[in-house]
Amino acid sequence: MAVGARNPLIDGLGRTLLPQPCTLVIFGGAGDLSARKLLPAVYNLQLDGVLPANFAVVGFARNELDDAAFRALARDGITRFSRQPLDEAHWAQFSKNLFYVTGSFDDAQAYNELKRRVEKIEAEIGIPGNRVFYLAIPPSLIGACVGQLGAAGFVNRPDQGALSRIIVEKPVGRDLESARAINVTLAKTFDESQIFRIDHYLGKETVQNILVLRFANSILEPLWNAKYVDHVQLTVAEAEGVGIRAGYYEEAGALRDMVQNHILQVLAMITMEPPWSLDAETIRDAKIEVLRCLRPLRGADIDKLVVRAQYSSGIHHGEEVPGYRREDGVRRDSATETYVALKVFIDNWRWAGVPFYIRTGKRMPKRASEAAVYFKAVPQILFNTNTDAPLESNVLALRIQPDEGFSLRLSSKLPGPKLAIYPVKMDFHYDATFGESTPEAYERLLLDVMAGDATLFMRRDAVEASWSWVTGVLEAWEASRARFVPEYGAGSWGPIEADRLIESDGRKWRTL
Ligand code: BG6
Repeated sequence: MAVGARNPLIDGLGRTLLPQPCTLVIFGGAGDLSARKLLPAVYNLQLDGVLPANFAVVGFARNELDDAAFRALARDGITRFSRQPLDEAHWAQFSKNLFYVTGSFDDAQAYNELKRRVEKIEAEIGIPGNRVFYLAIPPSLIGACVGQLGAAGFVNRPDQGALSRIIVEKPVGRDLESARAINVTLAKTFDESQIFRIDHYLGKETVQNILVLRFANSILEPLWNAKYVDHVQLTVAEAEGVGIRAGYYEEAGALRDMVQNHILQVLAMITMEPPWSLDAETIRDAKIEVLRCLRPLRGADIDKLVVRAQYSSGIHHGEEVPGYRREDGVRRDSATETYVALKVFIDNWRWAGVPFYIRTGKRMPKRASEAAVYFKAVPQILFNTNTDAPLESNVLALRIQPDEGFSLRLSSKLPGPKLAIYPVKMDFHYDATFGESTPEAYERLLLDVMAGDATLFMRRDAVEASWSWVTGVLEAWEASRARFVPEYGAGSWGPIEADRLIESDGRKWRTL
């Protein structure tokens, strides 16, 4: 039976959140992220009764919209993407506090107009000048936007009364150098304590639960190391192709889009040392330690340890779908990878010698993200003497999405007179225990920013450490000037090269 509703003001790590009254200014307010994720997230927070009473959203972008058109855009986004259905009474209340200002990101005059408007709204609604700026814009525009915010006198330093916070969407840059440049620009106007670099995977309940599972259960920690863990597999598979985002994706590819941020963050949660407190800096310190221990990928290692590939045409869920190079907006000779698999080592005492196999791709057979910890096999005595059919080892699989939960594979005796061993699964499903409606990552993260809790956000050093690690691979790929990368059929689990990567170690990718 499902456990009763959780208190949305207590987060996944058990911390109490106290969101402050504020204006959320969304740069790129008329865009896809705003309509699909941000506005529905804010709406759900209001439905759950956790938004402060004095709260407004102001969209800002080049698109010529007025308040009414912005409200229509929000209504459409909420109708299509909200976790909870649109409720007319709540909508009437909510939509009154949505506003829009048209302007170009580098036009000083537009920022003055935006400031005038925000101040008027604050006075009308009774918001004490607290502002959260959300940059839902490409990295190339961040510099201009932050500079203009500073010049327009929009931003208070942390000790200057009303709060100013900025949320920066990924990708923060496209390599180490550009990420550093963005961080330098941000630091000119904002203190690091005011900067929230968002990685929405950290807002997922199942990702937050990694820490709880590891450190609220006494049976796991003693086994969580190279002595007992054989290897770990981390899969983030998407069924969708590139969709309408070719413009962005062509310049990114799977390594920049998924590995540099989401996957390395999940890996850090799985492998970090126990933090001594739940304080944001302590947790972020523990995570950065792991990122610093990632074995660098350089030279000839890259070909041995990294596989990139691109989806070709194929049959996906019974439908014929085009290959990546035939998608709208993609160059016909594109060498952008839509799939990447890596074998990674963490060179510290806990994980010495344990391989971490990572794979992520678009147009895979289904959407499935999971971290599976494979424990070492029992010795080949007693029940495990048949070397042709060794016992399957224990696996703890943390299902990030969908079908959120985790399972543990154990060996059991098959009932009957003969001694036969059968692998069985203990399985936990979130929806069966906690009910269906788990909050979206963006809901949690927006609430955290309003409450000033940076635990689930990327600190400057973490972003740069992640870029520093992937940049070696990016540079090697660029230097190779490959005209084509290996292909995998749309709807398949990836290229043969990725199978070889793991099978040459006598292991297999998990069937999901
Ligand atoms: C985004 C990537 O950060 O994450 C997308 O840019 C990807 O390419 C998305 O599709 C996946 O997020 P989720 O929450 O659907 O797994």
